[in-house]
Amino acid sequence: ALFEPQRRNSSGLDLSSPAVLAQLDLALAAAATPERAHPIIDGQMLDTDNATPVLDPADHRRIVGEVVDAHPAQVAAALASAHAAFPAWDDLGGEGRAAILDKAAEMLEDQRARFMALAIREAGKTLPDALGEVREAVDFLRFYAAEARTRFAHPLPLPGPVGESNHLMLGGRGVFACISPWNFPLAIFMGQVAAALAAGNTVVAKPAPQTPLMAAAAVRLLHAAGVPPKVLHLVPGGPSVGEALVSSPMLDGISFTGSTATARQINRIRAAMDGPLLPLIAETGGLNAMIVDSSALAEQVVADCQESAFRSAGQRCSALRIAFIQREAWTRIEPLLAGAMAELSLGDPALLSTDVGPVIDEAARQRLLAHGGKLRHAGRAIGQSPFPADCRFGTFFAPMAYELENLDLLRAEVFGPILHVITWESGHLDKVLDAVAATSYGLTLGIHSRIDATIAQVVARARIGNIYVNRAMIGAVVGSQPFGGLGLSGTGAKAGGPNTLIRYGVERCLSVNT
Ligand code: SER
Repeated sequence: ALFEPQRRNSSGLDLSSPAVLAQLDLALAAAATPERAHPIIDGQMLDTDNATPVLDPADHRRIVGEVVDAHPAQVAAALASAHAAFPAWDDLGGEGRAAILDKAAEMLEDQRARFMALAIREAGKTLPDALGEVREAVDFLRFYAAEARTRFAHPLPLPGPVGESNHLMLGGRGVFACISPWNFPLAIFMGQVAAALAAGNTVVAKPAPQTPLMAAAAVRLLHAAGVPPKVLHLVPGGPSVGEALVSSPMLDGISFTGSTATARQINRIRAAMDGPLLPLIAETGGLNAMIVDSSALAEQVVADCQESAFRSAGQRCSALRIAFIQREAWTRIEPLLAGAMAELSLGDPALLSTDVGPVIDEAARQRLLAHGGKLRHAGRAIGQSPFPADCRFGTFFAPMAYELENLDLLRAEVFGPILHVITWESGHLDKVLDAVAATSYGLTLGIHSRIDATIAQVVARARIGNIYVNRAMIGAVVGSQPFGGLGLSGTGAKAGGPNTLIRYGVERCLSVNT
């Protein structure tokens, strides 16, 4: 039977409808009024005068809002409050918590245009990506609510001899730190927080420094939906705030999405501490490959490469980085890919005609420029999208593709719209699989082939969390493609899957002699 709890995924929007676009235009106009992201502790937005502006990555002349970072003392206050609030929130039970999360999902769908506008202006998301962002956040809320209802509401009766009753009780761990990235500033933020809350935990959340506004708006929405103010706190800030949070003895669990290096740093900090051992749920990077053999359909490969490597300006952890293409197929694919890249439109993410928006900030752009410089020496240029003049006010990077002889330049994730192509000869699929395994990452893998035995061989060998066959390898859907990787790509639990919530909770077994 299909695993399908009682819930539905968020509906889409017709982005070609003038009425829908008019509504989005209004929301974008409203987004010109600056948003504020200050520490939110016990439901209070703490005011100070040392705010810094949050700039639109598509046009740095535009101020989207302001952020005030939390002080270490505020982090400690948030943790103490969350600790005190835990027993009552846990006691509310799966059903009570699910009702609040469902309410939040409904409110978020109602306010979809506002949140989309914020995703466009704060994170440079294109219109379709902004819509996807809000839909995924709604889906996480409903999915984890349904999971809380079915698994965390009632103890699970277990067998035993006559005269003995056994039950497995699921509940919260305590206080969770949720540390989220800028590339899905609403969806991943909401996914982590919703999972932790659904399981019965209280939360102190630290969003990425690049995208605090969406997080603050999400926290206000969750409070308005009925999450008690002491159950969920927001501490904006950079690494020092993150360190104050993860080094606290008050914590009972950590959910982190970001780089492999930061996940290691969190492990190091916790390993040096006394006190209870606690779980780190880490979703980290990828060096994701697509394997294409000579039976693949060239047009479909090109469309899926474009979508997987360049959509969202390549800033998805699922994005395609290395296409391993069999030589015979490559001669057909190369001209099509170069032609398709020349047509990609870089520009204002609020325009429906835009395919690729900005990268998140100047540091990201500089890293991509440096990598592009190395590719020019080591590789052969395949394609390059045009760079329009009005992109100079933002941090734009035009998609590029290079053919390489080997992976020497690719030991770590390159986070942006750069596709690397390596060709392989017939009969050498094993070598390709060895190369994929040698990256030690294991997040996503694409396969394009019409040969069942080849697909089966790749699937059997690949130690990869999400494998996509004859389709794009981004855009995991909550409940359908639980998302997360192996090895350097993370610890699990996958997000949006049937085994996620259990990792956020504790299991207690009660055995009674009746
Ligand atoms: N979940 C996203 C995707 O599947 C990546 O983070 O594209």
